[in-house]
Amino acid sequence: MNVFFLCLCVCLALPRSYAALAHLDDMMADAPKDHSHPKGEDHHDAQLDRCKGIEFDAITPDEKGNTFFFKGDHLWNGFSGPAELSNGTFKEMDEYHHLGHIDAAFRMHHKDDPTAHDHVFFFLDDKVFSYYDHTLEKGYPKEIQQEFPDIPNHLDAAVECPKGECVTDSVLFFKGNEVYHFDIKTKLTKKKVWSHLPNCTSAFRWLEHYYCFHGHSFTRFHPVSGEVTGEYPKDARNYFMRCGEGFGHGAGTRKMKCSEIKLNAATIDDKGREYAFQDSVYMRLDEHRDGNHPFPITRQWKEISGEVDAVFSYGDNMYFIQGDQVYIYKSAAHYTLIEGYPKPLKEELGIDGPVDAAFVCGDNTIVHIIQGQKMYDIDLTASPRAITREMPIPIPKVDAAVCDAHGVKVFIGPEYYDFGSPMVLAVAKMIPNPHKISPERFGCEE
Ligand SMILES: *[C@@H]1O[C@H](CO)[C@@H](O)[C@H](O)[C@H]1NC(C)=O
Ligand SMILES: *[C@@H]1O[C@H](CO)[C@@H](O)[C@H](O)[C@H]1NC(C)=O
Repeated sequence: MNVFFLCLCVCLALPRSYAALAHLDDMMADAPKDHSHPKGEDHHDAQLDRCKGIEFDAITPDEKGNTFFFKGDHLWNGFSGPAELSNGTFKEMDEYHHLGHIDAAFRMHHKDDPTAHDHVFFFLDDKVFSYYDHTLEKGYPKEIQQEFPDIPNHLDAAVECPKGECVTDSVLFFKGNEVYHFDIKTKLTKKKVWSHLPNCTSAFRWLEHYYCFHGHSFTRFHPVSGEVTGEYPKDARNYFMRCGEGFGHGAGTRKMKCSEIKLNAATIDDKGREYAFQDSVYMRLDEHRDGNHPFPITRQWKEISGEVDAVFSYGDNMYFIQGDQVYIYKSAAHYTLIEGYPKPLKEELGIDGPVDAAFVCGDNTIVHIIQGQKMYDIDLTASPRAITREMPIPIPKVDAAVCDAHGVKVFIGPEYYDFGSPMVLAVAKMIPNPHKISPERFGCEE
């Protein structure tokens, strides 16, 4: 099955009401995946009610995208449900050290090393434990410094930070107000002091966002700079767990009707990250294991306000077309608007706005721009840039288009069309059968 469309489902499930709410909220209380499976009553410790306000020891997703919250010898599996004993899920925890608690935990992102990638690392005192499939790996526990030289014992928190969000694949370790950026490949550590950030007792990455938990609150921070933007701290019970009456922002939201879906733009960047844009929100499409959620476009691309017309990626640049203006962002650890932008579209690409869709295929240097029932090719290596080819296309009113290894996908409202290549799209005499965005695959309501 095509991953793009699999993932698109939730993007397309983005309710219009989300669009408005996403401005206010880090996440909806009902957005994350819920994998809780309550155990018998004897496992439920009435004193450990996370809706009463818990300061967690650690929070981490596992390899399947289940999120675990830890406190003492208990854990919560998912964003709702009661506390369970940790040793019921992570069996060997007990045997080794009669685990009363853990200090920190994170899920490793290290694609070059399959023996570590997606493993969950737990930290207690001076030891590190590597788990996969909820089973302790051979050779563990180890001394923390065997695996992570220069990282201190008795940590407070840890969180993964993949390349693209951090400069390199990294892990952030927290102790007091000190933060250790550990580069997974070089094993080098940079220590920083983020005294503006509360001391984190646990840290969590969720859909490219980074959260420091302290008390029963959390503060969102940038993983490279530590910068906090927005109103923080916020009460975790309104966002990361379902606490019923008096809590949560999820009330009143509904899934979007499939028939109401209408993207503005979509793109795949050079790191393989796929994004769709609708109204003033975006969704990451290629990763959905940890759940899905629309976020305001301004969260990643600060200068873009309102709807965009088209987005395409070329090298490590991302182009946003809005009316007769174009914004170019450089993607590194975050997206930065290149100096001098926005610029008139005419000046940059030699075409007048507005446009409907734009895409580049793979390493190609041609951007294909769809405007009405025409497709224009522009060579991005030419100077000045100008239209080199103009071709009619068989379908009107295109909302968005992307090109991946399978060809071009053209979105029109709640349907999409597959074409083997831009050329196939241009010479198509007949419109192929559209694929419907189905509730099963796209998570929307019929
Ligand atoms: C799990 O921990 C509890 C309390 O610490 C203990 O009573 C129980 O025997 C442990 N279970 C296993 C399977 O080790
Ligand atoms: C945060 O940690 C530092 C040590 O790194 C400590 O001096 C400070 O008191 C802590 N702050 C709070 C509010 O606990």
